[in-house]
Amino acid sequence: MSVLVVGGGGREHALCLGLDRSDSIGEIHCAPGNAGTAEIATNHAFSEVADLIHLAFQLDVDFVVAGPEVPLCEGLADQLANMDIPCFGPVAALARLEGSKLHAKQVMQANGVPTAAFHLLDSNSDIDAALDDFSGNPWVVKRDVLAGGKGVVVTEDRAEAKEFILDSIASDGQVVLEDFLPGEEASMLVVMDESGYVCLPASQDHKREFEGDKGRNTGGMGAYAPAPVYTDEVRSKTIERIVEPMHQDLASRRKPYRGVLYVGLMIDAAGDPYVVEFNVRFGDPECQITIPLIASDLGQMLHAAASGNLAEQDVTFHDKHALTVVLAAENYPGSVEKGRAINNLPSASHDSWVNHAGTAHANDQLVSNGGRVLSCTGIGSNLSEAAAKAYALIEKIELSGSHYRQDIGHRAL
Ligand code: AMP
Ligand code: GLY
Repeated sequence: MSVLVVGGGGREHALCLGLDRSDSIGEIHCAPGNAGTAEIATNHAFSEVADLIHLAFQLDVDFVVAGPEVPLCEGLADQLANMDIPCFGPVAALARLEGSKLHAKQVMQANGVPTAAFHLLDSNSDIDAALDDFSGNPWVVKRDVLAGGKGVVVTEDRAEAKEFILDSIASDGQVVLEDFLPGEEASMLVVMDESGYVCLPASQDHKREFEGDKGRNTGGMGAYAPAPVYTDEVRSKTIERIVEPMHQDLASRRKPYRGVLYVGLMIDAAGDPYVVEFNVRFGDPECQITIPLIASDLGQMLHAAASGNLAEQDVTFHDKHALTVVLAAENYPGSVEKGRAINNLPSASHDSWVNHAGTAHANDQLVSNGGRVLSCTGIGSNLSEAAAKAYALIEKIELSGSHYRQDIGHRAL
């Protein structure tokens, strides 16, 4: 089969690497891709969803795999369906699970899925009363729009919470104030369509910029899987209380969910799971360490889910551990300078390799092209082995001003 992968980050390079290893896949296209995908796929520039539709049609691909959420929220899957091109990634109406925090809350409530209590606030609301209602813990304020990871504030500073609430109401009309959930986070990726679902190994990412989970929030500085916090007991509760009811709902829609549902979990001290967020795509960098743990053919699984035949697939996993460490550009998650030379890139082996994210070629030189530039991934029979392999690679890479966290996997190690 031939496939078009949409996106150009570390997640999409990981998807292309997995597809490249798939016997079912003959030809890979990526739009826009990066310097890593260019080695195994044909990269194509695009600016709008209409260009992607045109590209998929022109290339006559067998299916499309959507990396990021924005094209899905803009109707990528709907428009591909009109042209009979299967899309791994949900239609716009279901992509709202990520596009609107309020919508996600309402769907969870309707399905009895455990999540934090919340108030919907608008210009008529008594904001102080709502803040009082959730006092004693940090306040959690969530904008109701796609905000590229900048839409959530968790703060113990009441004035800061109130200011973010007022600013969000001014720009979006409404905002969600949520009860604080204590516990440990894990990311659970569920591949699903109307015929069934497959839970991928649970992982944990590291969202803060510095060691010990300090500093600014980032897109993710590293990740590992499987996450030990996701015990067998937590798994069975998660499936019974979250995955089953969500799947029943999303499978019964006129245009059912086809793709991966990212379930952001908070697991409390009693081992009870709550949903912090849904995303309608693979996590980044969770994808980079989850895909390599899939032993069966990735292309077949993605194509089957895009076509509504997932239940026929036998998806199997390696009994291994995977860990990835992100190399970020100077000043990331603030604004970064692109175009800096990257040297000394180590070559890949069967159990450690470099995932490209914000990379490009300028003449013959590999250069940085984003905030998260690349990540180094290791696979091992235990987590410390995987970590040792990832760190052995990242230490070698030269990129002026770049930084990475030394403690990826610390909770499990
Ligand atoms: P979200 O975009 O909804 O995942 O929120 C971003 C981050 O904020 C999450 O990964 C959590 O670390 C934190 N967070 C969100 N909601 C809550 C909550 N109700 N209680 C505690 N932390 C939260
Ligand atoms: N790593 C978190 C996310 O992809 O949303």
